[in-house]
Amino acid sequence: MDFHLQASAVRGGTVTVPGDKSISHRALMLGSLAEGTSSITGFLAGEDCLSTLQALRDLGVRIEQHDVTSLTVHGVGLRGLNAPRGDLDMGNSGTAMRLFCGVLAGQGFDSRLVGDESLSGRPMNRVILPLAAMGARIESQDGKPPLSVHGQASLRGIDYEMPVASAQVKSCVLLAGLYAEQPTSVFEPAVTRDHTERMFGTMGVEVTATEGWIGIEPGQTLTATDIEVPGDLSSAAFIILAVLLAESAEASITGVGINPTRTGVIDILRAMGADISLENPRELGREPVADLRVRSSRLRGIEVDPALVSLAIDEFPVLFVAAAAAQGRTVFTGIGELRVKESDRIGAMAAGLRTLGVLVDESPDGAIVHGGAFTGGEIQCFSDHRIAMAFAVAGTIASADVVIRNVDAVDTSFPGFADLLSRLGARISVRVGEPST
Ligand code: S3P
Repeated sequence: MDFHLQASAVRGGTVTVPGDKSISHRALMLGSLAEGTSSITGFLAGEDCLSTLQALRDLGVRIEQHDVTSLTVHGVGLRGLNAPRGDLDMGNSGTAMRLFCGVLAGQGFDSRLVGDESLSGRPMNRVILPLAAMGARIESQDGKPPLSVHGQASLRGIDYEMPVASAQVKSCVLLAGLYAEQPTSVFEPAVTRDHTERMFGTMGVEVTATEGWIGIEPGQTLTATDIEVPGDLSSAAFIILAVLLAESAEASITGVGINPTRTGVIDILRAMGADISLENPRELGREPVADLRVRSSRLRGIEVDPALVSLAIDEFPVLFVAAAAAQGRTVFTGIGELRVKESDRIGAMAAGLRTLGVLVDESPDGAIVHGGAFTGGEIQCFSDHRIAMAFAVAGTIASADVVIRNVDAVDTSFPGFADLLSRLGARISVRVGEPST
């Protein structure tokens, strides 16, 4: 499928976005490892989370799906998973693969994790090394999937200093820590999303946090609970930008997660001049949520504070488009991790923006975007959902049509994206494209 965009008058309105991807994965996994039955509402039925759901079923967990967003998970307890009959397919999901490694490292059976072409190119030593130090053996293809996990029913607790700030690695090691004989702790060089820690808390598992070290005692029982998943701020970010860039629009995006480990995008856009306010703050479980009110704003280029990178790690495609539309230049530094996401996101954004006539200087871990207006063109999204959606937003203000090729990956995180954007007033159509060569 391709997206076709024409410059359009985005007007706004009141909308909701699908459930948070990170929290949906964790609700399924922790619910499965809990004692008792958990209900999940607001679940993201995107392909990434459906890969996690299927893998848990393959490990013997009974999960009932009542409708698209509500499920019941019949927890099997920490020691209740069964050896899978075949490979566990993680699809496109790095989160699924890395978190499952932590759980499977502590099982008394072997398993094999596979993924699609993009996932098969992503670095896994970041979880293989700490898990090996804990006593598990994981075979890879030169540090990449497929992964054969030879679990150990009992692992060694470790104190692990992560070389890169990664919530996936932190969560993996904490999950493995439940199966260890000694306490485990992980040091994060920068704050990363803490959904695992918060959800552990709602299930009665204690996690400590002192000066960057996150610690867990082994063998703690997870107690089932009901989980309401907030809207995904990473998905809302595309809607926020479409409204900001419009001539005269105002929107309210209701029920969006505003966990402070995720709100870097709001801080960065505000520093660029965006009018975004948080209304009706409340909590779902231990996750803070609010309605976001957004109004069209004139954006200006800034130097993005590198301290905000890990708090906005998935929003750089959006921020590159914001930078391209802003007056003046925007400088991104310390964003090298983007090169090992679902695609090389620095390279993909630089290439796409150049196609639209924007000047971009690229370095190994940064970029300078020279903002102003841009034209149309045909964009490749490298099967990366966030690249596709970022350029769809760019297409709402480009001076000529924008076509984004092969956008099927959008369903991994934001089913219904094109419909929602068109409800706000965007002229977007989804068409069957020519197969890529
Ligand atoms: C995620 C963590 C982030 C993020 C990913 C989801 C998670 O990855 O990019 O989309 O759910 O833990 P890293 O923590 O590896 O940067």
